[in-house]
Amino acid sequence: MVNRINDSIENDFMWQIYQRGLINELILQPFMSLSLEIDKRKTFGIISHPDAGKTTLTEKLLLFGGAIQTAGAVKNNKIKKTATSDFMEIEKQRGISVATSVMSFHYRDKIVNILDTPGHKDFAEDTYRTLTAVDSVILVVDAAKGVEAQTRKLMQVCRMRNTPVIIFVNKLDRESRDAFDLLDELENELSISTRPLSWPINSGRLFKGVYLLYNDSLNLFEGDKTKKAVEYKKIENLSDPRLDDMVGKEDADNLREEVELIQGVYEPFDEQLYKEGLLAPVFFGSALNNFGVQEMLDTFIDIAPGPQARETNLREVAPEEEKLSGFIFKIHANLDPNHRDRIAFLRVCSGTFERNKFYHHPRLQKKLRFANPYTFLASSKDIIEKAYPGDVVGLYDTGNFKIGDGLTEGEELQFVGIPSFSPELFREVINLDPMKSKQLEKGIDQLTDEGVAQLFRQQPGNRKIIGTVGELQFEVIQYRLKHEYNASARFDSLAYHKACWMTGEEAEIKEFIKYKPQDVVRDKDGNLVFLAQTAFILDMAKQNNPNIEFHETSEFKTFSEE
Ligand code: G4P
Repeated sequence: MVNRINDSIENDFMWQIYQRGLINELILQPFMSLSLEIDKRKTFGIISHPDAGKTTLTEKLLLFGGAIQTAGAVKNNKIKKTATSDFMEIEKQRGISVATSVMSFHYRDKIVNILDTPGHKDFAEDTYRTLTAVDSVILVVDAAKGVEAQTRKLMQVCRMRNTPVIIFVNKLDRESRDAFDLLDELENELSISTRPLSWPINSGRLFKGVYLLYNDSLNLFEGDKTKKAVEYKKIENLSDPRLDDMVGKEDADNLREEVELIQGVYEPFDEQLYKEGLLAPVFFGSALNNFGVQEMLDTFIDIAPGPQARETNLREVAPEEEKLSGFIFKIHANLDPNHRDRIAFLRVCSGTFERNKFYHHPRLQKKLRFANPYTFLASSKDIIEKAYPGDVVGLYDTGNFKIGDGLTEGEELQFVGIPSFSPELFREVINLDPMKSKQLEKGIDQLTDEGVAQLFRQQPGNRKIIGTVGELQFEVIQYRLKHEYNASARFDSLAYHKACWMTGEEAEIKEFIKYKPQDVVRDKDGNLVFLAQTAFILDMAKQNNPNIEFHETSEFKTFSEE
């Protein structure tokens, strides 16, 4: 046994203390297998503005991992951008996309878990929450368009949590913007330093390939979409005359100049700064042509962090801890009204998750066990016996979970860092069938637990205000209230601009509420929220109430707001 362990984990901390005779083999064994599993996992999300190439890149990564055999397998599950908000169509596709919500594959000696983040703007909140469950991200940027609206928003969320980011500049096979300009824009608009690790030789019709700055090799562009493995052309250094033969004298000279500039302007790549979320390595390529993807994937495997420790209300939870803990970051409803069950997505944070074992649900003070938990390896749903930190487990749920709930072996842990963000649209719920108010109440309660929208209550009067990031959610709620809860409601627009969670001096808050009783509401957890009608009103409120803080997310202790 000792040899087997030694072979698998040479640098393990536990192995070292075992070697020093501080613990015996029996103590070592469970740690060993757990830390081996942890060491193998990389859990990340791909984010982008719609159309930059997230789906295409996901697919190519899965091809490399052998998780799918043909191109198109992921694409078919994609939420298409419907001009009319045909939500049934979208929900149908969302239903299909359960299978692709998490995609796992083996690459080299690692298990890679990709957590899908919906590109559709109206599901942005879903994406923000998914980002709480990853350990790093890959950001895809269109080389012709650079930073776009969703790029900014998603990166803000990553920056809040210091999530390590690798940037893939995509579509170099089309006319692109100047690479230096793109890097400047990324740095300025996303508040992160960048360091190119590959460098493009032209773009569009003249695109010749990329030069890998970290190992002096060339990856020449051939536009072969089917090729799985890349043959890199190694050169001695940039003065190697073979470079002129490979890309032509003019482009070779340009490349030499540009690389000299890069080396003068940029510090050498610092992995630690990447891991702290301060520096993003940048790759250039074309996902559609499966070009430039492998070097990024290889670098990702080399540098991306494995499962990280997670903050809770009581303490930080380390993945190596023996006892299971995890949290729910996504709930997916079953659209078939005959099957009211839902799927809750659990991110395992520490210990080992086991099928049929009883776990503790701290919020409900309940014991729960799961007979059919499933995992997402090789893009199919398989029942699993065990799962480890970094893994996502699908749990059939009959209404026990809401987003942010934890699961433990008895400890009263509440994971933090799963905040709500200010919605952008606000509407009052008007009950259209007084005989069905109980059903409406239950429906609204459960749908907002699932994270479809946020619910605020206004006192007195118990007015219910729903907040969302997109129109689509209102249609989803209305439809589901009718079909699943047999309730009907109308949504009346309210002219609010932003929701801000309030903290501060009690007396000043009381005075503020007296002055604006209509605009101060409570969220589902009872927190006070100010609904500001305009940006100006919010600014005035901040100025006039220096002892009240107005936060744009529901959790502020763990995040530094700008
Ligand atoms: P998304 O998930 O970020 O929304 O983007 P997606 O991968 O769907 O890509 C958006 C469009 O950009 C697709 O074209 C896709 O084929 C194209 N694309 C992705 N990567 C590249 C690339 O490297 N080069 C070029 N030239 N195009 C790329 P579409 O016409 O919208 O869809 P489809 O008809 O190809 O399915």
